[in-house]
Amino acid sequence: MRADPSPALPPGPTAHPLAQAAVFARDPQGALLRARARYGPVFTLRFAGVGPVVVAATSDAIELVADADPTASRAGEARRRVLPQASARSMFGSDGDEHRQVRARITPPFDARRVAEREVAMTERARAHVKTWPIGRPFRLLSRTRTLAEDLFVRFVLGVEDDVRARMVVQAVGAALRTPGNPPLTPPDRDEQRPLGPLLHAEFERRLRPLRGLLTREVADRRSGRIPMGDGILAHVAASELSDERIVDELLVVLAAAQEPMAIALTRVLDRFARDPALVDALDRDGPDAPAFDAVASEALRLHPPALASLRTLTRDVVVGGHALSAGTDVMVAFTLLNRDPATFPDPDRFAPSRFLDGPPPPTFLPFGIGERRCPGEPLAGVELRATVPTVLAALRLRPLSREPERAVQRATVLVPQRSALVVATRR
Ligand code: HEM
Repeated sequence: MRADPSPALPPGPTAHPLAQAAVFARDPQGALLRARARYGPVFTLRFAGVGPVVVAATSDAIELVADADPTASRAGEARRRVLPQASARSMFGSDGDEHRQVRARITPPFDARRVAEREVAMTERARAHVKTWPIGRPFRLLSRTRTLAEDLFVRFVLGVEDDVRARMVVQAVGAALRTPGNPPLTPPDRDEQRPLGPLLHAEFERRLRPLRGLLTREVADRRSGRIPMGDGILAHVAASELSDERIVDELLVVLAAAQEPMAIALTRVLDRFARDPALVDALDRDGPDAPAFDAVASEALRLHPPALASLRTLTRDVVVGGHALSAGTDVMVAFTLLNRDPATFPDPDRFAPSRFLDGPPPPTFLPFGIGERRCPGEPLAGVELRATVPTVLAALRLRPLSREPERAVQRATVLVPQRSALVVATRR
């Protein structure tokens, strides 16, 4: 664990770091809101295995993330501490020039116009998926939306056009990324020298092997001209000089980033529609182009942000919310605190999509982050929501099994519904 980098970090809970990590993993939104009520908008949490993290929900903390000077903090370094499997050479885990190069190479296929052109094809895929969902018995909605999100990404963004190959890659992505249930703690990495680190790392690598093999073959077949390049991410990386190993490193993290928050967003939005037949009636009547659809989606993401926070490690001393923080401090701009601030969102715990109908969203509403490290998948996420949510709800009536939307639990950098959103579906 790291020592406190600042001589005096802002106050925060005093429980043992193991207890803090466990409480946070079980109910991250509750832990954040309770700490803010007690300590104000800037406080320190201490996590076993990660070290102290300063949580901040202030305008200067947002500025730090949005900063015109991206050298003030590093996202890759901070994220790798929470998600050690993210390669330091990937878009998610790198920093500085290396990050800019990876991002420039991988993001063109997420371009808003290009993904919008895939909306009809995505709708057709969603229709095919929904036909396979269970009827009349409980199932985990998140598990189905994960497969759907993987499938859409592999076919329409990665660019695996052949049906058999696409199915194989989707299956391998699922096998590599899924862990049973929603384990509360991040697996430690080999580098951390703790007793379980090497074992867990070896297990992660074992599960990854089939996917590594398939991605390597996709790149090799494009490079040798055996199959057409296409216009997805695979075409971009195959046209580069990079080694196979390097390409796979870059792609794995993008696959993970594209699958998990997307599946959580689809699940949370579907869950909210499922709880209010009037919303489904309005969607049947007006379609996803009506402002009401975006308003429901935004309100679902406000109350249930799929991503936990913008995480940064400071590279120089800064003042946040009146607290002097030293270089080396990890800072977490937690979306839950911004999204449930009563000054911005009156009656913040109430689900009220109409708040997003009265004008542009407040500048503190940042479900996709802000600045250089802002999510490049936002346009894709919008198209996937429009292509899939109305398709599911036109075919099925979903009944959530819990009275209230399931509490979020922490899984590395995302917030997952506790029981993966248990629902029962009937045909409409
Ligand atoms: C509704 C779904 C999604 C949400 C809510 C979401 C949210 C976020 C957030 C909050 C960040 C971090 C921003 C920061 O640190 O300041 C992020 C980063 C990222 N997201 Fe997404 N995301 C979603 C979907 C996607 C999709 C579909 C993709 C795939 C294209 C994607 C790829 C990434 C990548 C690669 C990064 C790292 C970017 C970088 O560091 O340069 N995300 N996302």
